[in-house]
Amino acid sequence: MSIIDIKNMSYVYPSGQRALRSIDINIGEGEFVAVIGQNGAGKSTLMKTMTGLLKPTEGEVCIEGKGSDEYTMARLSTRVGYVLQNPDRQLFSNTVREEIAFGPRNLGVTGEELEKRVDETMKSVGIGHLAEEYPPSLSKGDRARVAIASVMAMNTKILILDEPTGGQDFEGRYQIMDIVRELNRQGYTIIIVTHAMSLVAEYAGRVIVLCEGEVLIDSDSRSVFSRPDLLRQTFICPPQVVELSRELYRESGSTAIELTVDDLADAILRKMQ
Ligand SMILES: Nc1ncnc2c1ncn2[C@@H]1O[C@H](COP(=O)(O)OP(=O)(O)OP(=O)(O)O)[C@@H](O)[C@H]1O
Ligand SMILES: [Mg+2]
Repeated sequence: MSIIDIKNMSYVYPSGQRALRSIDINIGEGEFVAVIGQNGAGKSTLMKTMTGLLKPTEGEVCIEGKGSDEYTMARLSTRVGYVLQNPDRQLFSNTVREEIAFGPRNLGVTGEELEKRVDETMKSVGIGHLAEEYPPSLSKGDRARVAIASVMAMNTKILILDEPTGGQDFEGRYQIMDIVRELNRQGYTIIIVTHAMSLVAEYAGRVIVLCEGEVLIDSDSRSVFSRPDLLRQTFICPPQVVELSRELYRESGSTAIELTVDDLADAILRKMQ
């Protein structure tokens, strides 16, 4: 059963700017989906329609079988968690603990149950030791973790992350993606927007490519990165691992590709034997 069902959905901003056109997407429970596309392709707008922040101009967005407009904002926030493109904008408390407690407390969770939920959430993203720290004083990587934890504490099944690795160094990007992968293993449905194609290849099972507000390709990551010609339309280049593997296999007439550094290394070793 799909957990998110988008039917013939379009979105036009009040300024008249059309951002999304005729979008049809079904996302199943437990999927790990990456949404990619050039700047202005409509990725953030699409995420906002899934979180109820924007109401479709045409068509509908259903969450767990119910139209997003049938939910109150508070109710929808217990279904869909949203980490903003700039997570610093969602941090406003004096301590990490307070930041994470804010959402569930607003939903009426109190006392020991609240303490337990906050502690467990901090632990699962590895920030337990930062509980009493002032969020703006943390490193960028830790601030991103706090933002993810504050959304997770709402106990949603769906987690939407808009560029969670933006501005992070190499290690920080992989640490955040490992947390997201672990959450996916625990059963969260993940939808992630990113410009980092190597992370898409490594982590996402399914990739939705947007181009000027429309879905250009929606398929498994191997099929998507096998179409560099089409990806160019939305100014995306497959990651270098993919390009290298394509070169490696080309002389044998194969169109196969590899998605991860480990698989590429194995392929090179096999060729040398
Ligand atoms: N508040 C707004 N009012 C009017 N137009 C907007 C608004 N926000 C975005 N747009 C326009 O809608 C289109 C889609 O924008 P969106 O932010 O969804 O793109 P994006 O794919 O997230 O881009 P980026 O990679 O830069 O984050 C763009 O043409 C953008 O200029
Ligand atoms: Mg965006």
